[in-house]
Amino acid sequence: MGKEIIMAENAGFCFGVKRAVDTTININNKDNKSNIYTFGPLVHNKDVTNFLKEKGINEVDTSTLDKLKKGDTVIIRSHGVSPNIMKLIEKTGANIVDATCPYVSAIHKKIKKYYELGYQIIIVGDENHPEVIGSNGYCNNSAIITKDGSNIKNLHNKICIVAQTTEKKANLDKVQDIVTKLCDNAVIFNTICNATKERQKSAEETAKIVDVMIVVGSKSSSNTTKLYEISKKNCENSIFVENSSEIPDWIFKNNNIKKIGITAGASTPDWIINEVIDKLLSFE
Ligand code: F3S
Repeated sequence: MGKEIIMAENAGFCFGVKRAVDTTININNKDNKSNIYTFGPLVHNKDVTNFLKEKGINEVDTSTLDKLKKGDTVIIRSHGVSPNIMKLIEKTGANIVDATCPYVSAIHKKIKKYYELGYQIIIVGDENHPEVIGSNGYCNNSAIITKDGSNIKNLHNKICIVAQTTEKKANLDKVQDIVTKLCDNAVIFNTICNATKERQKSAEETAKIVDVMIVVGSKSSSNTTKLYEISKKNCENSIFVENSSEIPDWIFKNNNIKKIGITAGASTPDWIINEVIDKLLSFE
């Protein structure tokens, strides 16, 4: 029996990730003499990083910076890095290509400005996420990092709140409620990226009208994981797959499944999404 495939309106590579991947591929196409590295995985997606490795583009991190030589190129991914990391890379003599997403750079500027004005910075996000670690570097690693405000106490009288670009708005709202009760002078920036909001809204809308929702992307990608959580809330039959090989058979065997929704994280390339669609269509 035929199944209808409904693609979420906004899904897949966001502007910042596409820009970082395109930048890397363009540099590699123009210059195949020097070594090209990305600082950490360019995106949280194994299929993309394997593709780059096949092209000879490898990764470096703080523990392997000593392998860089003068003339090598290091690409800073869309998550950005702290000023200290930037200095360490500069010291190696390698050329730096900064592909930090402009929305992340805007957060860096806000943190730096308000930190220098004497504000305590609060970042709503995941303390282990590279974007948050990099942003914290702009206030000398002094930010309070919180998911839901539960660790906020003894506040300074001047507070500046920003959010990780992929954070859920509900978490920012929670922190804002807590902080505004404790402090009169709080400046709050909703720095959640539109791409994230759009993908989350489309995932929710699609999940509500389908029998199965397939979320495509890496389990290490925070924005894809959030899409899965949102999908699961709105469609009990939501599944999280890295690529087409993980699509389970029961989807095709169950005749009660008539509508299949698809969404994909901001770090999932079109070719992976297309393979998922092709596999679903091949069972029509
Ligand atoms: Fe940039 Fe937003 Fe993507 S911050 S990297 S466009 S999710």
